[in-house]
Amino acid sequence: MFKIVNKKQLNPVVVSMTIEAPFVARKARAGQFVILRVEEDGERIPLTVAGYDREKGTLDIIFQPVGATTKKLSMMNEGDYIPDFVGPLGNPTVFEKGKRYAVVGGGVGCAISYIVTKEIFEAGCEVDAIIGFRNKDLVILEEEFKSVCNNLYVCTDDGSYGRPGVVTKTLEELIVSGEKYDEVITIGPMIMMKFVCLTTKKYDIPTTVSMNPIMIDGTGMCGGCRLTVGGETKFACVDGPDFDGHKVDFDEAMRRGGVYKEFEKHAYEEACNLLNKEVAE
Ligand code: NAD
Ligand code: FES
Repeated sequence: MFKIVNKKQLNPVVVSMTIEAPFVARKARAGQFVILRVEEDGERIPLTVAGYDREKGTLDIIFQPVGATTKKLSMMNEGDYIPDFVGPLGNPTVFEKGKRYAVVGGGVGCAISYIVTKEIFEAGCEVDAIIGFRNKDLVILEEEFKSVCNNLYVCTDDGSYGRPGVVTKTLEELIVSGEKYDEVITIGPMIMMKFVCLTTKKYDIPTTVSMNPIMIDGTGMCGGCRLTVGGETKFACVDGPDFDGHKVDFDEAMRRGGVYKEFEKHAYEEACNLLNKEVAE
């Protein structure tokens, strides 16, 4: 059993939790993920590592309740226990000393961009962070980012805060103005990563994307997380989650990601009804 030692609401929709999991925290690195269950016979969900403290033996997860399980998880509190919490799974994000990076994060994906930026910066690399949100109320981790990058660019789609427009607008403006990046790493909604890759392709900048498709076992056995990368089938859980973004078939990945949307919507509504009933009783 894994204790929730801290819970914070980062914005009206995004929740951060710190979990006591010393064996997971001991080895976790940016880019890896955990698979958890909130009930013994519940659904398994993957969540990317958002932070770790090896001395305290804790791991951070940051998520938005979008499905039944994340809804149930968001209703848990400090002192509650998560029955299953397995990890770290997948491969850590790879970076090289001496290179200059731009990390591009979108929405709740910025939680993962933060730990990736931090690891790269602490390794002595130069790194700029470009983080995008739909509006000012959804901005998360701005102060935290400031201390782990050379330049931070906060963008909002509606222009209510920071630079107006989506992240690709700022990324392209920076490239055109002469900023040189050896590599771009991007984490967020699939559609954003697709457009970041289309932008960097024009300027021939290698780009890594963090894919988070549907996962079941997280060990390469079920095939649930398969993707096409460079014409080959890859499993995000064991071959990734990071891939060369210029080779990923995003359209197929987005189609596959949409297959369970209707089912997930029903499960989410059911979970909400159940939880509301429990609260009322
Ligand atoms: P969102 O829809 O609010 O978008 C966030 C930002 O992405 C926008 O503000 C914009 O700057 C950019 N963006 C969106 N569409 C774009 C486009 N067409 N072109 C250019 N930029 C675009 O994001 P959200 O609702 O917070 O969703 C977060 C997503 O991140 C979820 O889909 C989740 O699955 C994913 N996620 C991925 C990981 C990972 O490890 N890869 C981790 C956490 C979350
Ligand atoms: Fe089953 Fe990747 S989650 S193969």
